[in-house]
Amino acid sequence: MKFFVDSADVAAISDLNALGMVDGVTTNPSLILKSGRDILEVTKEICAIVAGPVSAEVVALESAAMIAEGRRLAEIAPNIAVKLPLTWDGLKACKVLTGEGFTVNVTLCFSVNQAILAAKAGASFISPFVGRLDDINLDGMELISDIRTVYDNYDMKTQILAASIRSVNHVAEAARIGADVITAPPEVIRKLAEHPMTDRGLQQFLKDWEKTGQKIL
Ligand code: E4P
Repeated sequence: MKFFVDSADVAAISDLNALGMVDGVTTNPSLILKSGRDILEVTKEICAIVAGPVSAEVVALESAAMIAEGRRLAEIAPNIAVKLPLTWDGLKACKVLTGEGFTVNVTLCFSVNQAILAAKAGASFISPFVGRLDDINLDGMELISDIRTVYDNYDMKTQILAASIRSVNHVAEAARIGADVITAPPEVIRKLAEHPMTDRGLQQFLKDWEKTGQKIL
């Protein structure tokens, strides 16, 4: 399973990347706002740190303008994935941009039918939003599972990028279902290492070690 960091925070991405935990990055207009940075500048910095795909999202609503923005974003670096919303205009832009050889991440997916359309339009990634479905009392993970089944039924090659991941349980469940990628905020990725039994076990070992009076170095 690949880990993408859902952030435009260069320092946080850099820290996780140094640990070998970053296979890519996803950004969106809200994350750019949070970073307080210029989209072209911050995305360029991220692309220089991370070898894998870095999603940068268009904001136009009409396909011709989306295509123009997508081409501009793709000029930032060779590892840009152009992020397009799941609308008919977005799908049209997806078809054109993937035809030109660009990596495309189709975002804001909330149904299996939308995921089928994205795959047919040639999307490299489909981003179903797990947390936002949970927010409205629907089951976000069920959508990941349904897309996995349908894509496997028809050998659709689009990678499932489980997005809007809010908890460590979301990560484990997405892995169990077979999502190709998860994108999660840095704090969720850091929490994956935590377990109270690990802390308790370590405390006990250190207590006993002190009693031995020994030193390793
Ligand atoms: C990533 O591609 C998405 O934009 C992001 O995961 C959305 O997450 P949120 O629902 O927590 O804002």
